[in-house]
Amino acid sequence: MSILTLHPLAPFAAEVSGIDLTQPLAADQVKAIERAMDEHAVLVFRKQPLTQDQQITFAKYFGPLDLGFRRVRGGPHRLDYAELADISNVKVDGQIAEREHAKIVGNIANQLWHSDSSFQKPRAKYSMLSAVTVPQHGGQTEYADLRLAYDTLPPDLQQRVQGRVAVHYALHSRFMLGDTHYTEEQRQMIEPVTWPLVQTDPRTGRHILFVGVHAAEVEGMTLAEGRMLLMDLLEHATQRERVYRHEWQVGDLVMWDNTSTVHRGRHYDFSERREMRRATTEEV
Ligand code: OGA
Ligand code: MN
Repeated sequence: MSILTLHPLAPFAAEVSGIDLTQPLAADQVKAIERAMDEHAVLVFRKQPLTQDQQITFAKYFGPLDLGFRRVRGGPHRLDYAELADISNVKVDGQIAEREHAKIVGNIANQLWHSDSSFQKPRAKYSMLSAVTVPQHGGQTEYADLRLAYDTLPPDLQQRVQGRVAVHYALHSRFMLGDTHYTEEQRQMIEPVTWPLVQTDPRTGRHILFVGVHAAEVEGMTLAEGRMLLMDLLEHATQRERVYRHEWQVGDLVMWDNTSTVHRGRHYDFSERREMRRATTEEV
């Protein structure tokens, strides 16, 4: 008998049943999830409302936890763990944030195609996002497969990315959105890092086109030429027909591999409450 039951939702996304994430996992269950992640890259677990403790416990089975953008933008936190990202439009006092609030820029930045924490080393491996409160309309999350993106690269693009290295910077997407209110210290806190545009997954041997909005430059190209190439590649990787769109219900947990996918949130009315919590592992 297999440990997990997988029901495909898209070529690279599957719904998982037959497991209770609120309970401690056995080693073979952890291995089965990792194998399913290698194959699909996005796993959906329905009706698994996790407490903060349970979400942290679950995430730690898969590696050390990542702090991500909280390293740049510390400050007060609403959740019990610094390692849980508060993906919400709710302020520390529990009220919905006004449109001008810094949290809203964070929400909007998440609506650009990205791979979590690709702006740091180590980067993020798995993200595990749990839905606490969902708005009536919008607020879906979309995913695209960077392995398929590589496999389907037209020959001219394949030639242009060969051996190329991209520079990823944490504040690039913020600057794009006009969010420039960072001190010199904050700007330098997260140094840009480089990642090859073409990578090979050490677990599966598959090639990956590693792009996303944190990629800000291509080494050895002019800024303009590099950015245009990055935009062309991201457009190729995120073609509508191949995107998996997740419609959230309270208690859903979606787990994705940041080294082989990109994702983005979709628009919702910021005057409606949306609360998600994310735990993320570092790539080891
Ligand atoms: C994230 C993220 C998008 C969303 O949690 O990393 O990008 O839809 N979320 O909230
Ligand atoms: Mn994200």
